[in-house]
Amino acid sequence: MNKMKDFEKQIDGIISKLSLKEKIGQLNQPETPTADNAEEFKERVRNGEVGSILMSVGATAGNDAQGGISVEFYNELQRIAVEESKSGIPILFGRDVIHGHRTVFPIPLAMTASFNEELVEQSYSDIADEASNEGVHWTFTPMLDLARDPRWGRVIEGPGEDPFLGSAMAKAIVKGLQGDDPSKKGKMLACAKHYVGYGASESGIDYHRTEISDYSLNNYYLPAFKSAIDAGAVTVMSAFNDISGQPVTSSRYYLTDILRKRLGFGGFVVSDYDAVCQLAKQGVAEDDSDCTEMALNAGLDMDMHDGVYMKCLEKLVETGRVKMETVDEAVRRILRVKFQKGLFEDPYCKKGAVDIEIHRMHAKEMAAESIVLLKNEGVLPIKKSDRVALAGPFIHERRSLLGSWMLDGKPEETPNMCEAMKAKSTGGVTSVNGTDLGWDSSLKWMCNTDVTVLCLGESWTSTGEHRSVSNIALTPDQTMLIERARSTGKKVIGVLFCGRPIEMQGIADNFDALIYAWHGGSEVASAVADIIYGDNVPSGKLPITIPRKATHIPIYYNITPSGRPVDCYYGENAGECYVDSLPTPYYPFGYGLSYAKFVYGDIVCKEPEIAFDDIKSGKKFEVTIDITNEGDFDGKEVAELYIRDKLASMMRPIKELKGFKKVLIKKGETVTVTFTLGYDELGFFLPNGEYVVEPGKFDVYLGENCLTERKITVEIK
Ligand code: NOJ
Repeated sequence: MNKMKDFEKQIDGIISKLSLKEKIGQLNQPETPTADNAEEFKERVRNGEVGSILMSVGATAGNDAQGGISVEFYNELQRIAVEESKSGIPILFGRDVIHGHRTVFPIPLAMTASFNEELVEQSYSDIADEASNEGVHWTFTPMLDLARDPRWGRVIEGPGEDPFLGSAMAKAIVKGLQGDDPSKKGKMLACAKHYVGYGASESGIDYHRTEISDYSLNNYYLPAFKSAIDAGAVTVMSAFNDISGQPVTSSRYYLTDILRKRLGFGGFVVSDYDAVCQLAKQGVAEDDSDCTEMALNAGLDMDMHDGVYMKCLEKLVETGRVKMETVDEAVRRILRVKFQKGLFEDPYCKKGAVDIEIHRMHAKEMAAESIVLLKNEGVLPIKKSDRVALAGPFIHERRSLLGSWMLDGKPEETPNMCEAMKAKSTGGVTSVNGTDLGWDSSLKWMCNTDVTVLCLGESWTSTGEHRSVSNIALTPDQTMLIERARSTGKKVIGVLFCGRPIEMQGIADNFDALIYAWHGGSEVASAVADIIYGDNVPSGKLPITIPRKATHIPIYYNITPSGRPVDCYYGENAGECYVDSLPTPYYPFGYGLSYAKFVYGDIVCKEPEIAFDDIKSGKKFEVTIDITNEGDFDGKEVAELYIRDKLASMMRPIKELKGFKKVLIKKGETVTVTFTLGYDELGFFLPNGEYVVEPGKFDVYLGENCLTERKITVEIK
């Protein structure tokens, strides 16, 4: 981050004048006051007790909209901090702006499905533009928790099951939010969360324990954080969970040894909401003093909401349980970020104009590229003159399209499917909301149209924080509706608005075409209608496996091979895994169809044998492939490159994504896609964190999804 060094002298000067209490105030992040305690809160600001404010109320704030931001009120608090507190240090305002502000973009899992880093970066730049215009300095994004269990409600917030894809998204989001200088107008500070392992919560139950070996941690869970840090993320939020019995909140190993010493993080760490005082509930601390001592000494700089630093730290320093230097270091890290955000130069929010129209256009583009076409048996796109029967519980739905973690968007500004379809149709759209149709009348009505479109899915209320589910199937009334529509003999198109992968067995078979639209944000309905009518061509691919049945969870593509049966459930021997069901994915990682017809050529590598020493000293080699669009539509294809390290000192995954490129290929055209591989792509981390590339053979796969068998072998000798 630029400007970093210039601030150190000024920070020294500030710290030397602060009382211990004022220092502790900088480490304290209370939440926004309500009308009842606003005056008392202002007094706390005046006394230097408020370093930062969480601009929402409640532990799971992202589940509910809480009314807009009062810029005047926050400016008034800032004025008190700057003009009336003794230190004059400005407050840092943080809010959960997770996938949109007034304009809501698709849930992050869906944005990941776009495999389009530029578009993700642009989306987060728009998001920063809108939120910073209302005084938000800092957002608790990106959420980088690798997740393999769709029962976990928070799977919506993250990048899915792959560390390479997660790392690409981390970089794009941080760049979009912060730009090259977060103090510039329209930029916000990023916060990489939840460090680390939260997505591995056992049984998908939120806040639950995790069991992660150092080997898995290094290779699966840490890379996205490393990527966010390298991209310049200046804050990190520690995770609620424990890892194998060690709460992250109080772990010096995770918060200092790995995060700072190994990953090179130089910013500050904020706790998750009330996580410091919860150390007592987790049974590793006796009381608030213990919690405070353990967390701060572990490397946790700012205490979100529970106020225990404020309550206990002064005494802990006086009694020598926490050193003054430790407090000073935490204050220094926080002040540095405040300088980086430019708060000492310009602490107030001056609301200006933001171009919502352009942001909505981008939100539509993002939604369109996030949509994954799962099935199409010659039915899509339909003609505008087709008579459409539109049914299902999501035809009038607005709120769920915006998804969870949506504080500032407006359902009333969100077109629903009925409106979006009618706006394009010339043949007419007749619609029946819900699933409770009279049997005879629904059949007759559907029979009199050319095609039925069913809009189905899950409510936003069963996704997000503290919203895990044990059943990831569509509700029985929805499956009944699908069966009825099927029985008409007419073509049936399904559109699924979901926050997570759902159980697909018994669902996909009943559709002629199936569109996964996620909780796709403010413009998803119009993006879906464009795709249904052929005004746009789908190009999303799955960032997470869609299972046949929930009983197959966890199911993810980058498993290590077992001795028997070889390759196990994701591969061809899956039939041997269970005697009672086939656990292969219904739709694998990286899967998604197009209206275009992409034909891959052969993989070309001019240097299939390379000396190990050359690779070690930075030599790279190229792998290319021609992709021809033999279809009738122009379209974008995501070419995916996977490797398999055939022989290594530790077991390596049967495939690992190591490159992807999204390219526009016009009909009739051929595009050559080039990937560059080298030391950074061929290695892995040992349990002790050491990165190694081991000589030997590597299969390099290139194709349309993780099941591709198109490969060449490269040898590093
Ligand atoms: C708890 C959530 O885990 C975290 O993601 C969020 O940023 C904080 N609450 C603040 O709302």
